[in-house]
Amino acid sequence: LIKRLRHTLYMTPDYLVRRPRRNRRSAGLRDMLQETILHPSDFVWPVFIKEGTGIREPIKSMPGVSRLSVDELVKDVATLRTLGLKAIAIFPVIEDSLKDSNATEAFNHDGLVPRALKTLKDQFPELVLITDVAMDPYSSDGHDGIVENGKIVNDASLDVLAHMALVQAEAGADVVAPSDMMDGRVAHIRGALDEGSYTDTAILSYTAKYASCYYGPFREALDSAPKFGDKKTYQMNPANSREALTELELDLVEGADMVMVKPALAYLDIISLIKKESTVPVAAYQVSGEYAQLLLAAEAGLLDLKTARDESLTAIKRAGSDLIFSYFTPDALKDFNA
Ligand code: PBG
Repeated sequence: LIKRLRHTLYMTPDYLVRRPRRNRRSAGLRDMLQETILHPSDFVWPVFIKEGTGIREPIKSMPGVSRLSVDELVKDVATLRTLGLKAIAIFPVIEDSLKDSNATEAFNHDGLVPRALKTLKDQFPELVLITDVAMDPYSSDGHDGIVENGKIVNDASLDVLAHMALVQAEAGADVVAPSDMMDGRVAHIRGALDEGSYTDTAILSYTAKYASCYYGPFREALDSAPKFGDKKTYQMNPANSREALTELELDLVEGADMVMVKPALAYLDIISLIKKESTVPVAAYQVSGEYAQLLLAAEAGLLDLKTARDESLTAIKRAGSDLIFSYFTPDALKDFNA
């Protein structure tokens, strides 16, 4: 066969008809022919908020990222809005004294998240506000659902999640994003929102959220690591892909407006699979550990940060994500506008 191929015309070195390199000859051609192009509206900026004023507390495990008090966040958002920022995802640092096993603080209409939502909606009416629906930041157990006798119980957690989502919607969340992976939570949240007349509040479901070690730095940022065990009874097994289709089917039937794959770079096949099967927009979350590994490798002089950043973000979009949650959002927006 090799011999026969060598004899076909276009495989002989002196007469190559097909030369893919022609399309890569110049920067102009490469730019013109580029299939995947990042755009400011692809990005969602995940932010860590904290009680107080004037606070910018660097997170050790995530160089360049800080926990911000709401007044400081407002300043950053004002700058980034001029650079094309469309959406933020809010994650609260809750004081230990406010945590309990039922995540009661999540129902406080005057809590950190509702106050942040009101301030942001007031100052930036067009900014899309996305909230996290899961118990872990508020739970003394550090789990996403209710813990009973060392087990995470599904159905009892649904009421807590729905109540939390309702409080967020009332305070101005445009999109509530359940990241807890309890069965039935999308339907339960949709029901509670509709009953409360929040029919316009959208649900972005963390559809395929894997039990990943890449969440490590995030749990340090929020001090939200599980107090015992791991999250493997609710988050998905990293070895599985078809199971993501079961989750997708349920989320679509239950009323999800957008679906998500998380983490992103180690799960490009899942993004691509979900994109093929989903009838709603697909998001991907480039999580804390993905961010941290690039930052630390760049700090060690092993790779160029901007190139690595753009390569990873482009790969995530190329795989099929319509939206990318990324801690690189501020830097990427600054570079788009440079
Ligand atoms: C909590 C939640 C987690 C992340 C987003 N929401 C952590 C976890 O499930 O333990 C991780 C985000 C990141 O690592 O950047 N429900």
